[in-house]
Amino acid sequence: MPLMRSTAGAHPAAFPARLQAVGTADAAYRPVLAVVELSENEMRRVTIGELDVLLVNTERGIFATDDRCPHMSAPLSIGDLDGCIVGCPLHDGRFDLVSGDTAQMPTTGGLDADGVYHPTWSPAGRDPKVDPPGKKAEARRLTRVRRLRYYPVRITDGMIEVAIPA
Ligand code: FES
Repeated sequence: MPLMRSTAGAHPAAFPARLQAVGTADAAYRPVLAVVELSENEMRRVTIGELDVLLVNTERGIFATDDRCPHMSAPLSIGDLDGCIVGCPLHDGRFDLVSGDTAQMPTTGGLDADGVYHPTWSPAGRDPKVDPPGKKAEARRLTRVRRLRYYPVRITDGMIEVAIPA
């Protein structure tokens, strides 16, 4: 029988201040999920209006970021979680929740957040994908893989609250 972890110690995680999502500095906090519904090492999408937010409960605390991969917007919530590293289900990009940086570039390659080019690659055991020249290859090469953006979190009366821009 799996060991159930208590969520009593759940707390907001610290994130790099420069990566706070635009418009959240003076945004109202909204309750989005009960703390007990997000176990440690679990991630969950919550949708508020047009915004899909990824909640992740880690050993460092609870993070809230866009539930959109910084590469091509795939939902990170159906990817995998290894500690504080979120893996995207689409092109195997991996993102560090603590720093906001890319831990592993997508298989398609492209530009990292600082504009440095990374070539395509293949996971171990798979042949490299042929990338015929043309506009699609050019688009992949020029696609910038940005850093995660964060929404401030607080916990009030057992509810996870997230600052959401109006
Ligand atoms: S969409 Fe996530 S790695 Fe490409």
